[in-house]
Amino acid sequence: MVLFINACARSDSRTLRLGRHVLRRLGKDYEELVLDRERIQPLYSERLAARDALIGAGKLDDEFFKYARQFAEADEIVVAVPYWDLSFSAVLKNYIEAINVIGITFSYSDMGVPGGLCRAKRLIYVTTAGGQIYNDELGFGYIKTLCRTFYGIGELEYFKAEGLDVAGADVEGILCAAEAEIDEKLTV
Ligand SMILES: Cc1cc2nc3c(=O)[nH]c(=O)nc-3n(C[C@H](O)[C@H](O)[C@H](O)COP(=O)(O)O)c2cc1C
Repeated sequence: MVLFINACARSDSRTLRLGRHVLRRLGKDYEELVLDRERIQPLYSERLAARDALIGAGKLDDEFFKYARQFAEADEIVVAVPYWDLSFSAVLKNYIEAINVIGITFSYSDMGVPGGLCRAKRLIYVTTAGGQIYNDELGFGYIKTLCRTFYGIGELEYFKAEGLDVAGADVEGILCAAEAEIDEKLTV
């Protein structure tokens, strides 16, 4: 099953439009996780203590870790997230904190080297920006490094549309060009 992580916030989200285009092109069944609905909290002190206690007791099957288990079990992952503040919105970071669980999505060797426990071989990352994405490494690059270092997901695909909020921008033209690029480059 494909896991679609929908981290979009606006009702007429352009990022979501491109994410749905990717899903259509893939043509596979998918499970959608709408982060705006999930309201995953950061690891504030109480949450962190609760998490540490569960991990200490070996209770990795607890509800607390449902997102980590879902991520680890997915066959393929699609992420749609808007480009905010030079990277991505914080709801995705909260989600990452929820899924980075030793013993579920990754583990450490005796030498302290992380290794992936996730089934997926590929993650497809989709974003849109109001202006230019000056450094892909701050958003996509961070997710790519997480995938390769922690999750064991080696294959990454990246689709973006830029300049959508620039005065006079041909928004429809930019989005259509991004969809055409997805049609051309996405391996299905
Ligand atoms: C909180 C916030 C932060 C943003 N930060 C940036 C930014 O750093 N650079 C940029 O080019 N656009 C930025 N934008 C504009 C969004 O990237 C742009 O509108 C994007 O297309 C939003 O995607 P959506 O249509 O899926 O909501 C920001 C928008 C918001 C709401």
